[in-house]
Amino acid sequence: MIRLKFIYFASILVFMTGCSYQSKKQSITSPGNKVKLDFHLNKKGIPEYQVWYNDSLVIKPSTLGFDLKNQPRLSGAFKILTTEETEFNETWEMPWGEKREVVNHYRQLYVTLKEEKEPFRLMNLYFKVYDDGIGFRYQFPEQPALDTVFIMEELTEFNLTGDHKTFWQPGDWDIYEHLYKTTNLSKIDATKYRNHNDLAQTHIPNNAVNTPVTMITKNGTHISFHEANLTNYASMTLGVDTLNLSLKSMLVGSDNHDYKVARTVPFETPWRTIQLSENAGGLIESGLIVNLNEPNKLGDVSWVKPMKYVGIWWDMHLGRKTWDYGTKQDKNPDKGLKPHGKHGATTAYAKELIDFAAANNIGGLLVEGWNTGWEHWIGFADREGVFDFVTPYPDYNLKEVVSYGKAKGVELIMHHETSAATETYTKQLDTAFRLIESLQVHAVKTGYVGKILPKGEYHQGQYMVNHYHQVLETAAAHHASVDAHEPIKDTGKRRTFPNATSREGFRGQEFNAWSSDGGNPPEHLPIVAFTCGLAGPLDYTPGIFNIKLKPYKEKNQVNTTLCQQLALYVVIYSPIQMVADLIENYKDNPAFQFIVDVPTDWEQTKVLNGEVGDYVTIARQQRGSNNWFVGGITDENSRELELRFDFLDPNKTYQAALYKDAPEADWNTNPTAYKIEKMEVTQETVLPIHLAAGGGFALSLKEGSVN
Ligand code: NOJ
Ligand code: CA
Repeated sequence: MIRLKFIYFASILVFMTGCSYQSKKQSITSPGNKVKLDFHLNKKGIPEYQVWYNDSLVIKPSTLGFDLKNQPRLSGAFKILTTEETEFNETWEMPWGEKREVVNHYRQLYVTLKEEKEPFRLMNLYFKVYDDGIGFRYQFPEQPALDTVFIMEELTEFNLTGDHKTFWQPGDWDIYEHLYKTTNLSKIDATKYRNHNDLAQTHIPNNAVNTPVTMITKNGTHISFHEANLTNYASMTLGVDTLNLSLKSMLVGSDNHDYKVARTVPFETPWRTIQLSENAGGLIESGLIVNLNEPNKLGDVSWVKPMKYVGIWWDMHLGRKTWDYGTKQDKNPDKGLKPHGKHGATTAYAKELIDFAAANNIGGLLVEGWNTGWEHWIGFADREGVFDFVTPYPDYNLKEVVSYGKAKGVELIMHHETSAATETYTKQLDTAFRLIESLQVHAVKTGYVGKILPKGEYHQGQYMVNHYHQVLETAAAHHASVDAHEPIKDTGKRRTFPNATSREGFRGQEFNAWSSDGGNPPEHLPIVAFTCGLAGPLDYTPGIFNIKLKPYKEKNQVNTTLCQQLALYVVIYSPIQMVADLIENYKDNPAFQFIVDVPTDWEQTKVLNGEVGDYVTIARQQRGSNNWFVGGITDENSRELELRFDFLDPNKTYQAALYKDAPEADWNTNPTAYKIEKMEVTQETVLPIHLAAGGGFALSLKEGSVN
């Protein structure tokens, strides 16, 4: 729904003195005047921008341009041909999401540039200035001097005004499953994290960080750098200049060629984004990243179903069951695969989980290890040709599971672990998705564990950006949504392709089951919410009640309280949320009621409080209902919060169920001690809540005064 859209035009003056190419500064402010951007060509004719937030400078003069293969640097001296300022205001609707309506209101400056000297190349710039940040992108217009470009490096700078506190992870070309670090900008040393026992692939060539990277200035401005609409281009890491307190784009490359991006002209780059907020919560409420993507291209996506799901999954991470059916290293499952009896994906187990899901308001079932090839998985050097995406193991009747689920209102989520062997997967893509469509299944979880094949490519490079995109489009053509693990980072493409429901791309719950470094520390998720969580939905797989993982993993544990596991259904947004624990761990536990009740699709979202890396409380209104759900989590420090309900309808009374850490609870010594309190709540209520160290709370608010 477009409510208002208007455009005005202003032409602009170029001004040159002597041998300087400097142009007059051109300012553009956001609709509410919170953000201001200045653009000009500096003395050398190089494009330069700077940014203010609430009248303080946040980005010092920073230059733009490219190094291109077999070409002079494309950065200046330029002259300005035209500039155009426009304003745009619309409110669009998310088919599913953390809110229904998104306001997309910005002022745009569009600058067309031409080189002063031969070869007189053209390069244009778009700047969109919002009250919650800015986005800018380069355009290579059609021109005589360029038809194909090979980008060696993008030269985008972000020069900062101080040594900000930074929440970062290394600029890994392969994986986003590092723990976030908290240091000042000048102390970032990404190369220290080059080796990690638990990562199936990692490549950190520079002292660079991955985005989103979030910072807090001395005066409390919150800044987060990322990108939007990463399409047919390489992912951007940000090189860190610790002396000059500056970030510079460093695109992810390939070992197969010296350039990082190949494109035919005309084209536009992804948006470079800077989210800005006075407080931490504003970053989460910001719609900048999705707004900078194009509108829905798929039309009616009622087949994309937000839901909770159970799975044959945690069993394998705990080592209780296996993905593979038998042990013999033979590619043909009928020939000599000796069943070892630990295979997880059996028809009988799938049916048991369907019964459980149907009884507990859970709409999906993920089955991993259903297809042939897993016997070759771990440690198998030549992974091409191994996985088959249509052939089930002998003890798993795919059709029977699907129809049993359908009869009970539980839909299968297909699983495609590609082991990063992209050619094998691409070859089978159509067949695999035709099978999915013929079964009337509408969701698939993909996986890319291991180094990318073909060798020399990286998960975040242009080759893989295009691969992930191809999978998304193929899935859409067959009415399936994609939950990608070991994915390309999220850049808000769910707006254009609403079948991009969720993804991993950060350290998920699985690390608690097997990592050698003690799992995810209590501060992990209070950082994630304000870093990679800003990029889009995250498939964390919450809901582990057997916190100590006994008897399966004596040396590992989940480093939160049980109540924090409940809170995560609200705090970490995803339209599909796993109910991840073994189902026997939910039986007879009254806290499970919250998981039964909590939805995964929302009308609106309010961040009630929070500090990056410390704690956060989020309230969300259920889509199509007046019910609200609130979740709060804290790091290793216990906390007393006072919850206010200004967000509720003033004339209504709500039945509240509060699940909170008991006074004696603690993530390590007593993680499962909790209390449930029932009460009536109105807009006036003030509710004190204790959060244990590593703890949290969850609250459901149902409209009406009687339950
Ligand atoms: C890694 C994924 O993150 C995990 O969820 C999955 O179980 C394994 N790969 C196997 O595909
Ligand atoms: Ca993973």
